[in-house]
Amino acid sequence: PAQAEALKEEIRELLRKEDAVLVAHYYTAPAIQALAEETGGCVSDSLEMARFGSRHEASTLIVAGVRFMGETAKILSPEKRVLMPTLEATCSLDLGCPADEFAAFCDQHPDRTVVVYANTSAAVKARADWVVTSSIALDVVAHLHGKGEKLIWAPDRHLGDYVQRNTGADMLLWDSACIVHDEFKAKALEDLRKVYPEAAILVHPESPQSVVEMADAVGSTSQLIKAATTLPNPVMIVATDKAIFYKMQQAVPDKLLIEAPTSGNGATCRSCAHCPWMAMNGLANIRDVLVRGDQEIFVEETLRQGAVRSLQRMLDFKV
Ligand code: 13P
Ligand code: SF4
Repeated sequence: PAQAEALKEEIRELLRKEDAVLVAHYYTAPAIQALAEETGGCVSDSLEMARFGSRHEASTLIVAGVRFMGETAKILSPEKRVLMPTLEATCSLDLGCPADEFAAFCDQHPDRTVVVYANTSAAVKARADWVVTSSIALDVVAHLHGKGEKLIWAPDRHLGDYVQRNTGADMLLWDSACIVHDEFKAKALEDLRKVYPEAAILVHPESPQSVVEMADAVGSTSQLIKAATTLPNPVMIVATDKAIFYKMQQAVPDKLLIEAPTSGNGATCRSCAHCPWMAMNGLANIRDVLVRGDQEIFVEETLRQGAVRSLQRMLDFKV
């Protein structure tokens, strides 16, 4: 603990010296989330991370999350230095949607508006008309559907299915999934609900349809934390990355929070409700990147100009 405290103090000092602010996702380690809050940074979902980074006056952003979050920050604030604890932290959705294959798919359907999830590369965003995160996807797609537009949706097929079912929009879906949320199992969840009949079920829409259908609330990370406070149930079964429990438990200190079951067998499940790439962020590599200034995000300018259009549309969209 004394060592951890010294590390935190070193980071506080470096943040001041480097005119830097820490922007962290809810799936990062509690120590990172606590430090981000305490030092005037932010802990939030991917949409609010983007807003916060673009509005904050610090000249350096330290983005603790996965690569698309750092790229989004750089696309929106090219004048800022954007560093990540590690550039290795990717996302299975980003990996599952290579820009050249995606562009070829879009070219086959020129009559369709292209909507992509924020969990994509800058090149995929540059090919899109709209970027959305899970907190705003339903509203944006309902708006486009209302204008009679037919859509391409990429890359998360579960979120795409969910949005399609709820808006009735005509959507062609790319076939990719999040390796964390794809593991939640409806049958085991049904069994767990029998043990806790008083529980509400909170589900991130990257989860399979069978799990989403059992939910009392479906939403982005920040929407799930809100639902934990507004639903009256004393117990919450939560189908998203378990790192969210840190902020959720702060929001509802008297409620019991339980992880939704994954494959049911720790030996076979690939992720066990914690994103392996989010887990690459730690206090030590935050300190290192502040000292060395490496692990910097760069986005090629033509790509950036393409991607900023579709991202800015999302930020300007009024729900
Ligand atoms: P949120 O936008 O809900 O924070 O989700 C980001 C993410 O990567 C979920 O797996
Ligand atoms: Fe990507 Fe899933 Fe990790 Fe989120 S939890 S960053 S969607 S792999």
